[in-house]
Amino acid sequence: MVKINYEELIKLAVDAMDTAYSPYSKCRVGACLLGDSGRYYTGCNVENASYSATCCAERTAIFKAVSGGEKRFRAIAIVGGIDGAIKDYFPPCGACRQVMSEFCDDDFEIILFNGEKITVRKFFEMLPYPFGSEKLN
Ligand code: THU
Repeated sequence: MVKINYEELIKLAVDAMDTAYSPYSKCRVGACLLGDSGRYYTGCNVENASYSATCCAERTAIFKAVSGGEKRFRAIAIVGGIDGAIKDYFPPCGACRQVMSEFCDDDFEIILFNGEKITVRKFFEMLPYPFGSEKLN
């Protein structure tokens, strides 16, 4: 099983904030996803004038990875803040948790950083009792 380098994932997530497109909220969010292959996939939030068509940083990273051929993941680091100032943890929204549930196991790690400290949660803590593909069989 691929080893998780927490510092590296956070650094890449912080770098990914640079390309956030967030003229409406001014909130820059960056994510870095670690695939089972050991590859990294970064993502940022991409907003839209309709608001609802906005894509979060986490889903950007996941969709980049899946469209590139990787479908199983070990961990994701997420950072964010207004005008890019990291002052608080940025846990993933409900839509992103649902998308994670499609591709991630219960022990998938969600790594958050508030500018000072790192906190790590397992996926099952973030989305217990998810709706999954077994319901469609
Ligand atoms: N956002 C993310 O990128 N990830 C989340 O999990 C929560 C919210 C973005 C969407 C929007 O561009 C901004 O943060 C404010 O909601």
